[in-house]
Amino acid sequence: MKLVASGQSLGARVEDLDLSKPLSDEAFKQLEQALGKFGVLSYPGQNLTSLQLKNFSERFGRLEVNVANLYQEPGLPEVMILSNMVENGKPLGLSDAGQDWHTDMSYSSMIAFTNVLYGIEIPHRDGEPLGNTEFCNMHAAYDGLPGELKTRLAGMTITHDFAKFWDKMRREKGSSRPALTDAQRKAKPPVTHPVFMTHPITGEKVLYANPGYSMRINELPQEESDRILAFLFEHQLQSKYQYRHRWSVGDVLMWDNMGTLHNAVADYRPDEHRYIKRCQVMANRYFEQAAP
Ligand code: OGA
Ligand code: MN
Repeated sequence: MKLVASGQSLGARVEDLDLSKPLSDEAFKQLEQALGKFGVLSYPGQNLTSLQLKNFSERFGRLEVNVANLYQEPGLPEVMILSNMVENGKPLGLSDAGQDWHTDMSYSSMIAFTNVLYGIEIPHRDGEPLGNTEFCNMHAAYDGLPGELKTRLAGMTITHDFAKFWDKMRREKGSSRPALTDAQRKAKPPVTHPVFMTHPITGEKVLYANPGYSMRINELPQEESDRILAFLFEHQLQSKYQYRHRWSVGDVLMWDNMGTLHNAVADYRPDEHRYIKRCQVMANRYFEQAAP
C-alpha cells in the first residue's frame, strides 16, 4: 500500500490496498498509526460487499449497533445506511446523519474510535461532488490553546449529552427526526469525559470537546463553563484546523473520532442522491482493561 498525505491539517489517501481482502497484521498496524497521525484516511476505488465492509471495520474494534434499529443492512445490524433516497415512500437510510459539527459517540461512556463510510452514490452538480465531509484537527486545536487555559482546564471534565444534537436538529434544522421519548432519553444519560485526552495512538494531547454534544465543564460555575465552552467551540472550528473530503463513488473514508471533529455538509437536494454504508467502531481496544 502507499500513503499519500494531503499536505493539509488532516488527511491522507491510502492507495493500492484492496479492502475486500483480509488485512495483514502489519498492514493493520500501519493503518492504525496513519489514522492517529493524519486523522482522516481515504481509500479510493473500493468495491465491497457489506460483509467485507464489516470485516474490515471490525479489525479496529467492537462495532456499535445503533439503538434505533433502523436502516440496518438485512442480517448485518452493524452496517447502517446513510441516505436521502426514498423507495415506494420509504426512506432507504438515515437522511441527516451528522449535519452539524460533532464527535461521534462522545455521549457514550465507551467513546468511538473510528467511523468507516463507504460511498456508493455521491451527488454531483456541475461536475463537483456535493455532500462533502468536513473535519477539524483536535491535536492542533489543543496545541493552539492559550497556555493559561491549558493549565486551568487540565484535569477538568465535560458532560456530553446525546439529546443535545438530536434536539438541535429538530429545533434549528427542520429535521424530520421524531422527538426523543423519555425512555430514549433515559437510555442515553449524559456522560463525563476529560476536557483533554492523551491520544492512545499518538501519545499527544487532544481537545475532547465538541459543539454537538458537550454541555458543561463540570468543575466550573455555570456561567464560566458557558463562556469557556463557547470559546473552545469557536477556537476548534477555525479554518486553519479544517480539512474537507470531497467524495468519489467507491471511496472508503475513515476518521479518528478522538483526534477530530466532523460535519456532513447538507448542500444537496432530495433528488440528488447520496447512499453510504457505515460501520461505527468503538474505542474499546484502548480503554478496556486487558484481562489479568
Ligand atoms: C456519521 C457522519 C458524515 C457524512 O456517520 O457519523 O457524521 O458525511 N457522517 O455522512
Ligand atoms: Mn458523525
